[in-house]
Amino acid sequence: METDLEGLQIPGHVAIILDGNGRWAKKRGLPRTMGHKEGCVTVEKTVEIAARMGIRYLTVYGFSTENWKRSAEEVGALMQLFRYYMMRLLKIASQNNVRVRMIGERSRFDQDIIDGINRLEAETKDNTGLTFVIAVNYGGRDEITRAVRRLTADCAAGRLDPASITEETISGALDTAGIPDPDLLIRTSGENRLSNYLIWQTAYTEFYITDCYWPDFNRDELLRAIRAYNSRDRRYGGVKAQ
Ligand code: IPE
Ligand code: IPE
Ligand code: MG
Repeated sequence: METDLEGLQIPGHVAIILDGNGRWAKKRGLPRTMGHKEGCVTVEKTVEIAARMGIRYLTVYGFSTENWKRSAEEVGALMQLFRYYMMRLLKIASQNNVRVRMIGERSRFDQDIIDGINRLEAETKDNTGLTFVIAVNYGGRDEITRAVRRLTADCAAGRLDPASITEETISGALDTAGIPDPDLLIRTSGENRLSNYLIWQTAYTEFYITDCYWPDFNRDELLRAIRAYNSRDRRYGGVKAQ
């Protein structure tokens, strides 16, 4: 174990709302897309850092259902970055024994991106280290709406008894089925909102907000968040670092 983690409880599932790419770029007089590019590098680094720390699940918000409303130019640039980094992720995942999973509604993407997502999941599915979950075209309300449609279709077809539906049934019908709820949620760049992220799953999650812009996020920032998490009086979740 890394020595500065000694005695710290490592959250089993860390979820991140990466924010501030645009402001990071603006501060430097650069186009927003440069902020996104730098942000992708930070995502790569964070996957490696989290894997080394012994975090079991890392879920990162990459593109929300609302983000389609941004300019065509910005959306196009984000799609290009996504294509490129998906390829790189294949390598990083195998080097670090990382399993990749995507949540969100993928059918809205171009076919080559859908193929890339499917390939990434298939080729990393047997890796036993960190599970890296990327939320793309993800919205918590959209996720719940899709789950409700499936469950009600099952009820209408007589496969499911409405009276038998429990919280576990709903959790199991979400994109995150089988993934434990986040223990710690980090949002960068100082915003105090959930922006439609994991709205069902964060019912009992600890929130940590940092002013740091996402491209500047690093191991020290993550460690600060984990220390803050350790200082909270919390009843559930987490695995002891060893
Ligand atoms: C987060 O950075 C990345 C995405 C939402 C894709 P932003 O693009 O939201 O950056 P700011 O909030 O404008 O600084
Ligand atoms: C949330 O960030 C979405 C992602 C990080 C992908 P935004 O920057 O899009 O959120 P708002 O618009 O400030 O709520
Ligand atoms: Mg933002």
